[in-house]
Amino acid sequence: MCGITACAAPAENDVLDTLVDGLRNLEYRGYDSSGVAVRNGEHVTVVKREGEIDALADALQGVRPSGAVGIGHTRWSTHGAPTDANAHPHTDCSGEVSVVHNGIVENYTALRGELIERGHTFTSETDTEVVPHLVEMYREQGLSTEDAFRRAIGRLDGRFAVAMVVEGEDDVFAARDGSPLVVGVGEDRRFLASDVPSFLEHTDRVAFLEDGDVVRLAADHHEVTDLDGNPVDRPVQTVDWQPEDAQRGGFDHYMLKEINEQPAALDRAIKGRITDDKDVHLEEFPPGTFEDVGVVHLLACGTSYHAALYAQQILADRGIPAQVFSAGEYTTTPAPVTDDTLVVAVTQSGETADTLSSIRIAADRGARTLAVTNVIGSTAARVCDDALFIRAGPEIGVAATKTFSSQVAVLALLAERIAEDVTGAVDPDREALLAALTELPGHVEQTLNQSSAEALATQFINRDEQFFIGRGVGYPVALESALKFKEITYEHAEGFAAGELKHGPLALVTSDTTVFAVFTGRHDEKTLKNVEEVRSRGAPVVAIAAGTDHEIAEAADEFLSIPETHPVAAGLLANVQLQLVSYRVADLLGRSIDKPRNLAKSVTVE
Ligand code: F6R
Repeated sequence: MCGITACAAPAENDVLDTLVDGLRNLEYRGYDSSGVAVRNGEHVTVVKREGEIDALADALQGVRPSGAVGIGHTRWSTHGAPTDANAHPHTDCSGEVSVVHNGIVENYTALRGELIERGHTFTSETDTEVVPHLVEMYREQGLSTEDAFRRAIGRLDGRFAVAMVVEGEDDVFAARDGSPLVVGVGEDRRFLASDVPSFLEHTDRVAFLEDGDVVRLAADHHEVTDLDGNPVDRPVQTVDWQPEDAQRGGFDHYMLKEINEQPAALDRAIKGRITDDKDVHLEEFPPGTFEDVGVVHLLACGTSYHAALYAQQILADRGIPAQVFSAGEYTTTPAPVTDDTLVVAVTQSGETADTLSSIRIAADRGARTLAVTNVIGSTAARVCDDALFIRAGPEIGVAATKTFSSQVAVLALLAERIAEDVTGAVDPDREALLAALTELPGHVEQTLNQSSAEALATQFINRDEQFFIGRGVGYPVALESALKFKEITYEHAEGFAAGELKHGPLALVTSDTTVFAVFTGRHDEKTLKNVEEVRSRGAPVVAIAAGTDHEIAEAADEFLSIPETHPVAAGLLANVQLQLVSYRVADLLGRSIDKPRNLAKSVTVE
């Protein structure tokens, strides 16, 4: 949701290509317009364009601003349409101050009014533009650039990350409050970005900034302070991600690459966390950690919400009361928490605004909080009492795939730890579940290699609508598969609990509705009845089930086979098949798979 990048290199270097590459690596955060501001000598040149980054790259062919220091931005519009004028960077009246921004300035109407009254002229409809004008105003009042920046930042309400270059100043100035920013420490230069993949090809040494931090970035050093100028320590750490993790690596789309990365991602997710004698070993959470837990609340959005629903089923199966809340709703109507409530935030990015707000509400009410996230150093990891990492590696495709599987695998292990701590006993099913999780990477590999999703997609393209049904963990898989389908194909898709169809949605079923039915090996006989209900209304059914189940294969029109395994793992394997179906249909329809219209990864506004 808007990506910021910046680089400060030694004099005589040209950072323009680094900035544009850094923006391309962040395009998943927004792609309706982009721009750069590059400082050459005393002068700063701004170039910005509506459209994807290629439009900016074309514009830069004509005016190639070169310089050793610069900032860049890729936008997902919140205030103002995606036009050249609304693209970032934004400047003050003199054109000396250039600013890029991620987030929302909530009091921008009042600030804009005040600045207009003082004679400032605005050229865009964005909330961002108040920032360079505020800096200009304070510089005119005699403050140094740094003090003017601090003063301007102090005037902003809302959630933001801001970076600025100014004519006559060598450094990049930046600040965060609610939106992510991370410093990259290269050999002879420093980077700054909303997310590590922006500069991962240059360095894996990073310092995560925290809310309230202000940073000055030069080629050979950076200085982090609080808003009042007091130094704060943000340790430089090495992230365990490889540059190729953030590249397409020969695949047509990041999404396809990430679907195919699931065996490796799952392997990392469970590595060292399941012992040879089928015990759960979570280094961060030794046995007994959760013995005081009475109830688990899971807060999440989108795909992570579906992973949370999956975890709820596993916990319920182990006798642990668990509830799942859509994080955005939770911020409106928070659930009561007590001393024994464990609140788990499930968030791939760790930066989703709705999830962060909900977790802060729960923490303020005294709940114990735990983040299940992919990003070390993310806000969720830092604001929660504890964090458990899913180790999926960077996910660039806007539609989440490998992070869903990794979230579920890690949540399953967490559920086992919680259940054992709370009940003081090991469930008889645990050994089978852990054995299935251990085999899961291999089973996913097998599923990917043998999938007939491509042929099936050709057959089921251009249908009126697609329903996805399942029960037990098959239900969150149905929801997730429908979400994936609608996100990347732009076709109508809905997911239902299989038993719910007859309570209403069946009215929509015609021979032009494709029904994808998920079978996990538990209560399949009931789902088979639901399949009959839709088939007798003429709807073709695609069943996803273990290849050994001939009864299901015969009851359906088409069959996508998965290896025989534990139901919890079977749901994930079915999900992989359905990821491939969505991908193939979207590809046949020529959709923008990695950057679906209107969407962005990491939604940092509520
Ligand atoms: C869908 C998708 C989104 C995210 C949601 C939460 O494919 O990716 O629905 O799951 O925006 O994001 P995180 O997990 O980063 O909190």
